[in-house]
Amino acid sequence: MTAPKVYYFDHNATTRVAPEVLEAMLPFLTEQWGNPSSAYSFGNGVVQHVFYARRKLAALIHSEPREIIFTSCGTESDNAAIHSALHTQPGKRHLLTTAVEHSAILNYCRSLEKQGVETTYLPVDAQGQLDLDLLERSIRPDTALVSVMMANNETGVIFPIAEIGAICRRKGVLFHTDAVQAAGKMPLDVRALGVNFLSLSAHKLNAPKGIGMLFVDKSTKFQPLIVGGHQERSRRGGTENVPYIAGFGRAAELALNRIEEEQTRVRILRDLLEATLLGTIPNSRVNGAGALRLPNTISIAFEQVEAEALLMLLDQAGICASSGSACTTGSLDPSHVLAAMGLPASLARSSLRLSLSFENTAEEVLYVAEQVRQAVQRLRAFSPLANRASTPAAAAVS
Ligand SMILES: Cc1ncc(COP(=O)(O)O)c(C=O)c1O
Repeated sequence: MTAPKVYYFDHNATTRVAPEVLEAMLPFLTEQWGNPSSAYSFGNGVVQHVFYARRKLAALIHSEPREIIFTSCGTESDNAAIHSALHTQPGKRHLLTTAVEHSAILNYCRSLEKQGVETTYLPVDAQGQLDLDLLERSIRPDTALVSVMMANNETGVIFPIAEIGAICRRKGVLFHTDAVQAAGKMPLDVRALGVNFLSLSAHKLNAPKGIGMLFVDKSTKFQPLIVGGHQERSRRGGTENVPYIAGFGRAAELALNRIEEEQTRVRILRDLLEATLLGTIPNSRVNGAGALRLPNTISIAFEQVEAEALLMLLDQAGICASSGSACTTGSLDPSHVLAAMGLPASLARSSLRLSLSFENTAEEVLYVAEQVRQAVQRLRAFSPLANRASTPAAAAVS
């Protein structure tokens, strides 16, 4: 019996391990399983493979290999950047970030606030965009770090990182970007962006969950978050996860070759899906439609529809999507990102996130569009609000 087809439209949550990536990992799970820190060649023979992976990631972000620290995930990379900025500048106890960051930033800042660190969370406008004048004015003499994500995981809205990098350099303040969602979808050049730190996570790039990296500019001081052995040149304790590092390296290589496809074929598919949904479902609107967005992401609100109920119907049709970020799906609170964009709670709770990849086809897009249309129609038929006139604010925005 063949398994029913899965229509996977949640690539911002995670991605499938590519066969080439698995192939790159297997030798280090089978024959070459030694510890890279061992003195004998059976162990330290794998060190060169960690270096090859580091070189491939460096090529993806245009850094030097020695500027890359392997971590356990994007969350650790984000935490490590903040931790380092605070500990290398003990007199500075202020962090500047945005209200729409991933919980890997927001919740770490909140936990630091209990230890006396002050955080400013910059607001965004209705399209999810930042006011750069306000950002500049919010930098204080005691600001240890500015941390602004490159692209938002829920809406795909892209922030002008190079411009923010220029402001931070002018002001002499350290700058971190969480580029977890941007990697593989748009070019990344740490020098052009002017960042001191940049975080990536492998599982958004067709590599396994549980491996990430932090770029630390070679002239930026670093204080480790995970203290232990001398791995990663004493910048991150813990025996290297060689199979996953090798897989991450291969994934970086594949991603570099796929950016073009993300910007063209994937964008065309995303635009087809978006236009079909807006054209066939009345009272729908795309969140952040007026901003520059990732080529693969749609966040769309359907008035009078509970996204959680919509997801259940879509699941029955074999469709994987989410109602916000995967980390917040299932929570009753409306998305903090959509709330920051000024969406009323009812519309935020009506929002569906669909995120595509090179693995999707036009046939799948048309199937998903039709299933969403039918599911929205069914839910609206049962909605107590169904017969009320729609609010002007919720008119279709394309
Ligand atoms: C923007 C962003 N930052 C950080 C993370 C966390 O990455 P990880 O799951 O590897 O900890 C995610 C994951 O969804 C993300 O989307």
